[in-house]
Amino acid sequence: MKILGIESSCDETAAAVVEDGVTSLSSVVSSQVALHRPYGGVVPELASRKHLEMIVPVVNEALQNAGMDKSQVDAVAVTQGPGLIGALLVGFCFGKSFAYALNVPWIGVDHLMGHIHSVFLESPSPEFPFIALLASGGHTSIYYVVSPTQAECLGQTVDDAAGEAFDKVAKMLGLGYPGGKIIADLARFGDADKIPFPRSYLDKDAFNFSFSGLKSAVHRYIQTHPKDYQHQSADIAASFQASVVDVLTYKVMHAAKEKKCRHIALVGGVAANQMLRDGVRVAARKEGLAVFTPSLQFCGDNAAMIAAAGYHYLKARAGQDLASDVYSRAVSPSAAGVSV
Ligand code: KG4
Ligand code: ZN
Repeated sequence: MKILGIESSCDETAAAVVEDGVTSLSSVVSSQVALHRPYGGVVPELASRKHLEMIVPVVNEALQNAGMDKSQVDAVAVTQGPGLIGALLVGFCFGKSFAYALNVPWIGVDHLMGHIHSVFLESPSPEFPFIALLASGGHTSIYYVVSPTQAECLGQTVDDAAGEAFDKVAKMLGLGYPGGKIIADLARFGDADKIPFPRSYLDKDAFNFSFSGLKSAVHRYIQTHPKDYQHQSADIAASFQASVVDVLTYKVMHAAKEKKCRHIALVGGVAANQMLRDGVRVAARKEGLAVFTPSLQFCGDNAAMIAAAGYHYLKARAGQDLASDVYSRAVSPSAAGVSV
């Protein structure tokens, strides 16, 4: 079964064709990073307008790259939420109309469940149940994933998302946007032990995260070293990154032990971070656990993960209410017909 996936929840207009929930036949991502860069973050109104401009060409390109005509699409899966409402509505309305016109099923997919499915686009993939750490620009959560359509959220950030912290620290250092990759690249030249930034574990046994204290600590460091902080930006980047990676690694390992899972998945934009991938792998190997990470193209927002999740929603008869609407915040299971 070939599912056309569509994603427009934030600043990427994306379309992809995925066969049977695992084989990506095409994946097109049109990034709006250049559009939002001058503002240091995503401007919702600009994002919606750009999605409107790009949605048709991006879908056409995805079909073309998959060597398909639209008549060969078996179903259309679209991100329903969470995300920016105006941005979501573009893909959502387009997807519904396209499916209706083609007379094929339409599936509304939760973006976070989509990220979890990014790990199934390559093999080997984890076996259920497994622990998933989702770390992106908008979310940082740990899930106990019991089936393709059921994931229990064990904990999440109480303030900033991990990716958001990367972006804000890059901004403080005047390095540009988005900050994740810039910080990671710079950190390679720095000493991660140079500045003892705090590690916020909150309750060490819980699975919640907090990154705002770390962000403030970096800000304070910059303020108290006004003359020389620019010479130390690599050390600041490395020390900051080490703090984030330590906390994420500790929590995901703790969740795997508590839930007795042998498989761990790292997903979301921050899962592209090599230090995080290596850190969790080393910790997991000591415990005899296996770690699964999507390739870099499927860590950030993409539509292949939405199509992959959509395949399982369809099998579970979830997410097909044409009267349903988009949602901006992470929701309780019932809205999407699956349990996230
Ligand atoms: O999943 P994503 O593309 O979008 C959201 O759903 O938020 O994640 C984007 C986030 C940004 O905050 C970006 O700075 C971060 O992922 N990111 C990284 C890396 N690459 C992207 N963070 C740390 N290290 C990276 N290599
Ligand atoms: Zn995302």
